[in-house]
Amino acid sequence: MATVLAFDVYGTLIDTHGVIVELEKHLGERAAAFSQTWRDKQLEYSFRRGLMQQYKDFSVCTSDAFEFTCSYYKVELEEKDRENILNTYKVLPAFGDVKDGLTRAREAGFSLYAFSNGSSEAVEGLLGNAGIKAYFLDVVSVAEVNSFKPDPAVYRHFLSRAGVLADNAWLVSSNPFDIIGAASFGMRTAWLQRSSKALFDPWGIEPTITVNNLIELAEIITANSKAP
Ligand code: LAC
Repeated sequence: MATVLAFDVYGTLIDTHGVIVELEKHLGERAAAFSQTWRDKQLEYSFRRGLMQQYKDFSVCTSDAFEFTCSYYKVELEEKDRENILNTYKVLPAFGDVKDGLTRAREAGFSLYAFSNGSSEAVEGLLGNAGIKAYFLDVVSVAEVNSFKPDPAVYRHFLSRAGVLADNAWLVSSNPFDIIGAASFGMRTAWLQRSSKALFDPWGIEPTITVNNLIELAEIITANSKAP
């Protein structure tokens, strides 16, 4: 059976900071900091909703976090600007190494899945817009179990949907919390360290491998996979 690669979406395949260009129109030099606070808050809201068992679509975490961030930066937006910015989140760009990395992974014989906090609809829209949807056998969304990463239930669900055992499935993610969640569930893990400034959490749970881009991913996973 082919080894399965589960690709995280936001931050791994798709650049959440692609909103900065739109934000700059309203925030000038504060756009990058705004984007970071927005992303951090969005994830915090997903963690909290998971813990509280108060699941709502990830887009609610995104829009609630946006409201919070506007208050934090004291930005008042007209409804149409607010809508424009939130709509940008639906058409975020893929990182530059994604197409090449996915092509190599597919050519190496791996089965590729997208596995995300986002709803299937949102993720399919994003992948389609970025021209990378056809690389994936399927999109698996946490919405199918009404929880968020890193709840063990979502990794269990992924493995069951892909019909694979944990030791034959890799999670590929730039998000350390996602890597730690999947590793704790017995999956193999590839941490994508997109910037030298990105730090891994010191929990004593390490990724199986660390890569700096997706282009080198397939070769390094092949070298670290069990013999067929
Ligand atoms: C995702 C998150 C982690 O795509 O952003 O699942």
